[in-house]
Amino acid sequence: MKKYTKILTAILAVAMLLSLAACSSKTPSTESDVPATETPETAAPEAGEAAFTTVNEGKLTMGTNAAFPPYEFYEGSNIVGIDAEIAGAIADKLGLELVIEDMEFDAIITAVQTGKIDIGLAGMTVTDERKEAVNFTSSYATGVQVVIVAEDSPIASVDDLFAEGASHVIGVQRNTTGDLYTTWDLEDEGLATIDRYSKGAEAVMALKTGKVDCVVIDNEPAKAFVAENEGLKILDTEYAVEEYAAAVSKNNEALLTAIDTALQELIADGTVAEIIAKYIEA
Ligand code: ARG
Repeated sequence: MKKYTKILTAILAVAMLLSLAACSSKTPSTESDVPATETPETAAPEAGEAAFTTVNEGKLTMGTNAAFPPYEFYEGSNIVGIDAEIAGAIADKLGLELVIEDMEFDAIITAVQTGKIDIGLAGMTVTDERKEAVNFTSSYATGVQVVIVAEDSPIASVDDLFAEGASHVIGVQRNTTGDLYTTWDLEDEGLATIDRYSKGAEAVMALKTGKVDCVVIDNEPAKAFVAENEGLKILDTEYAVEEYAAAVSKNNEALLTAIDTALQELIADGTVAEIIAKYIEA
């Protein structure tokens, strides 16, 4: 057969199959050589909507570390907070059911990478290092790394941590940006010892009992922890200003687009601001 004849035959075959499919679309056939009438999951997306897959069909599985008020914390046995509500609103838009999994903060990125969760939403700061491991959505909030000290602490400003000959013991939550920055800026320079805890609240307990001299942590949980514990205060000077975003697997561009589009709509229509205002006083 010549080349064009082959092509013609192929076109005719496809046309026949298509008309067959059209005829049989109301009576599903069990014959395997008839094209399926149902749209497969990998169908080309229609204009404006991307076909995406999630770890569990019909669900949006979010990984977080629910020890970070007001972004995520327990109310009874439920995980609530800004991130939980934003994820709920995103899931609604995408027609998915939100499932929240609580884990160690430093397990979230790996869980995203290995496909255990769809979205890491945990007051997570966008950093260049993390960008190498996961994709980030647009930012939905600003975070500030602050320093918590005892009310009578000799540490009066962030500069005191950087002073020549400084040798403070600093409490942080493991693998958070508070940990990373103080490690690079201070411990690696011989200016401090970093004590790493699995939860921010544990670092704050260590501060209360005098095991550490200060705690470097995000401002909103810092306010919550200081409100719960007498004798502590937050220094006026800021250690670092950062952006929070959601982490999605690098292997799921379609899901990233879907989540980011939903998030941007929720930012534009004021939903995100409303959720934040519910938990944080202006
Ligand atoms: N913003 C900091 C970071 O990304 C701390 C986040 C901690 N979040 C949490 N849910 N424990 O490293």
